[in-house]
Amino acid sequence: MISSETKIRLNNGTELPLFGFGAYKVDEEESGEAALLSALACGYRHIDTASIYGNEELVGNALLRSGLNRSEVYLTTKLWLDEQGEKETPDALERSLRKLKTDYVDLYLMHWPHPDSTRLQPCWESMQSLLQSGKCKAIGVSNFSERRLSELFEISEFRPAVNQVEFNVFNSRSELESFCRAAGVVLQSYSPLARGQKLDHPLLRSLAETYQKTEAQVMLRWCVQLGVPIIPKSSTPKRIRDNADIFDFELKEEEMAQLEQLNENFEVSDWVPDPDNWY
Ligand SMILES: NC(=O)c1ccc[n+]([C@@H]2O[C@H](COP(=O)([O-])OP(=O)(O)OC[C@H]3O[C@@H](n4cnc5c(N)ncnc54)[C@H](OP(=O)(O)O)[C@@H]3O)[C@@H](O)[C@H]2O)c1
Repeated sequence: MISSETKIRLNNGTELPLFGFGAYKVDEEESGEAALLSALACGYRHIDTASIYGNEELVGNALLRSGLNRSEVYLTTKLWLDEQGEKETPDALERSLRKLKTDYVDLYLMHWPHPDSTRLQPCWESMQSLLQSGKCKAIGVSNFSERRLSELFEISEFRPAVNQVEFNVFNSRSELESFCRAAGVVLQSYSPLARGQKLDHPLLRSLAETYQKTEAQVMLRWCVQLGVPIIPKSSTPKRIRDNADIFDFELKEEEMAQLEQLNENFEVSDWVPDPDNWY
């Protein structure tokens, strides 16, 4: 049975919480800290941030203020495109650690593959050294296609533990999911709610009614029931609570299959680092 405390074993033996809090756009000083504290108070024990979000300091402050021990909260951060390189990457992690007020992160992700593929090897080699130094307990990537992952495997001593990608009922990426599974890389979902853009779908509405839950809770439940880790974001206290309250109902097999049919390769944003040089 899955619960808010369920963890997924990664390929380096560490464990990633199935459930966490996404901190993208949680950046207003007061409301941001209030959202983070509210998430920690209602049981979230994993925070996902990134250097580009500009809120690592806010996350570090909220962790201190929460009174929780560092070891009780799983922390993910990510390095940005201009932080990919032999020297740039260790410097970037130092900056992140300083802002987060900690001496390690649980998971360090390359935020996007660089359009200039010659940046991949020096960056990954640095990440592998950081892993061995203990400053990150696991390393991984984000927004990597099958092709980009294959390129990375060719030069890896340690494969990425995680590939964090957009994943939800409207974009369920079955080929990438199978590829990652076969390669021992955990696919983690970002934008598990499709940023709230499609909550009015009739199937979500009807399942929400059946289970006396919200459409958002049905979307999140579908991911965790598949075993896909999620990091929903909200700055609204009630939604923060609701998004965590998804472990007391179970979708039937046929309902899971119906939800899978909603896939339309929907993307919440069409931003990529360099559209002219992208695959
Ligand atoms: N690696 C990457 O490139 C990448 C890209 C995007 C996101 N991420 C990570 O993934 C996290 C989550 O993704 P996301 O922020 O893009 O999207 P999301 O979690 O799918 O959706 C967040 C949006 O949905 C709204 N929302 C939240 N709970 C709701 C509910 N119960 N009912 C209705 N609306 C609700 C939020 O509004 P309010 O805040 O106003 O409640 C917010 O606008 C991010 O915060 C970030 O940590 C990573």
